[in-house]
Amino acid sequence: MKVIICENYEEMSAKAADIFAAQLTLKPDSILGLATGSTPVGMYKNLIKMNEAGKIDFSAVKTFNLDEYYPIKRDNSQSYFTFMNENLFSHINIDMANTHVPNGETDDAEAECKEYEKKLAAAGGVDLQVLGIGQNGHIAFNEPDDALFSYTHVTDLTESTINANARFFDSADDVPTQAITMGMASIMSAKKIVLLANGANKKDAVKELLNDKITTSVPATLLKLHPDVVLICDKDAYGI
Ligand code: F6R
Repeated sequence: MKVIICENYEEMSAKAADIFAAQLTLKPDSILGLATGSTPVGMYKNLIKMNEAGKIDFSAVKTFNLDEYYPIKRDNSQSYFTFMNENLFSHINIDMANTHVPNGETDDAEAECKEYEKKLAAAGGVDLQVLGIGQNGHIAFNEPDDALFSYTHVTDLTESTINANARFFDSADDVPTQAITMGMASIMSAKKIVLLANGANKKDAVKELLNDKITTSVPATLLKLHPDVVLICDKDAYGI
């Protein structure tokens, strides 16, 4: 895993956006794997600016998001579907038909998971994936456990994740208790991964990435098995 330590969040976001821009220059019809949460917002802002300036073009890009709460209506202000539209898609020249977020309002979540994996495979797999990391080391909603799932599945959210995400809802009771999430194999099959971490609350999780151990109790440590991961973090997350 390559590690880039940045002075602050702004520098991290700019560097991450540069990697995405380079990807689109090399392969304009890239399949991008996208994340929600606070961490990638700065990177998305940079990508929007680059797109407005004509430096990058999303017209041939396809995107697949990592996860979505379940159950949740797509038009709920806290759905990841809404998040992506507000923070990226509505500001860039992407064809909305080329964007994919798991459907949190389906009646048949199992079928949705299978369908999502099929669409991902049919598109040819993710070229470049951005990831945030949970304080407990989760990636997407693959929460610490004795065993992890390989492919897109429905999962219970841990108390730690519900509490961490309660800041976006009126209260922790309003946070959905389940999610549809890509599994570890779905994520690891991306050709290249950019993992972003900022803030002192991510320090413990980042520390686990920097030692030599791989454990399902810190799902992000499985990324050590991937040949092309770059961790971009700020000094607080790195612990200096
Ligand atoms: C979001 C996702 C989550 C977040 C993680 C960090 O799509 O997959 O794993 O990346 O919970 O969230 P933030 O960035 O809000 O600290």
